[in-house]
Amino acid sequence: MRVDEIRKICVLGCGSMGSQIALNAAIHGFAVKNMDIKEEMVARARAFAAEYLPGRVAKGRLTEAEAQGAARNLSFTTDLAEAAGDADFVIEAVLERLDLKRQVFRNLDRVAPPHAVLATNSSFIVSSRIAGVTGRPDKVVNMHFFNPALVMELVEVVQGPHTSDETAALTMDLARKMGKTPVLLRKEVYGFLVNRILAALVKEALWLAEMEVASVEDIDTAVTKALGHPMGPFRLMDLTGIDLHYDIAMERYRETGRAEDKPSPLVVEKITRGEFGRKTGKGWYSYAE
Ligand code: 3HC
Repeated sequence: MRVDEIRKICVLGCGSMGSQIALNAAIHGFAVKNMDIKEEMVARARAFAAEYLPGRVAKGRLTEAEAQGAARNLSFTTDLAEAAGDADFVIEAVLERLDLKRQVFRNLDRVAPPHAVLATNSSFIVSSRIAGVTGRPDKVVNMHFFNPALVMELVEVVQGPHTSDETAALTMDLARKMGKTPVLLRKEVYGFLVNRILAALVKEALWLAEMEVASVEDIDTAVTKALGHPMGPFRLMDLTGIDLHYDIAMERYRETGRAEDKPSPLVVEKITRGEFGRKTGKGWYSYAE
């Protein structure tokens, strides 16, 4: 399949990543179905698109016609067969749990057309841990977007040993057609490029806070003002979700059993309190309405 033959894209998961990936694809001219098993997640994604598109017109970033076209391109469902039944390319963005992803790919393989590529937006799970549950491992690949997916330009494409060169090249081309800058990883490696680098930064930041060397605010200020990052590691965790950070750390810890991979006690405290970041109104910072 060539990239100009991709017309219909299915995005699984209406969370912050899934909904923005879907909207981004719709803005770039693809017919997109965004699916979630939870009605309330679908409602939230629908409401986000309904607010975002007129906002872009008001800001002069999209024309009225472009926004209307994007709205027409985007539809939502809670039914997997309806979402993926006619898709040329599927991007999975469900929760970061390996068993869940394997179940989703098993079901997807049954309902998606044989020619469809099945990509995962996982932040750290390499697709070779998922491809085996499908009958098309050559068409399974990592396609990793960054939060907020409508804004961040990078997409990591990770070619597993099972992924064909054609699938990797097609995924790179699709990312470009979605307005992104893709990079290709020719080998599967835990955390890919960006999250490996980011994890080192976050680990140091958490250690400094845990040791009460400086406040969360001052550590963020140090990173923004000295290193030029747009936001510090704590504010970034609030954006991407402290729960996601915890899930990733726990999955890694289960795998390695190494004490240094355990989530920081500060993170565990946030999880216990249900303070996951922006999405719950409180994380390292407060986000009053
Ligand atoms: N959703 C959609 N668009 C958003 C947004 C959001 N949540 N937040 C900001 N934007 C848009 C704004 O509309 C604006 O667009 P415009 O310039 O075209 O009008 C633009 O982004 C800039 O927004 P603001 O002026 O309001 O705010 P900032 O200049 O502070 O930018 C930011 C906000 C883009 C989030 C910036 O702070 C940033 O780049 N932060 C770092 C983000 C980052 O590092 N992401 C990677 C995280 S790691 C990851 O995702 C890995 C995964 O596996 C967990």
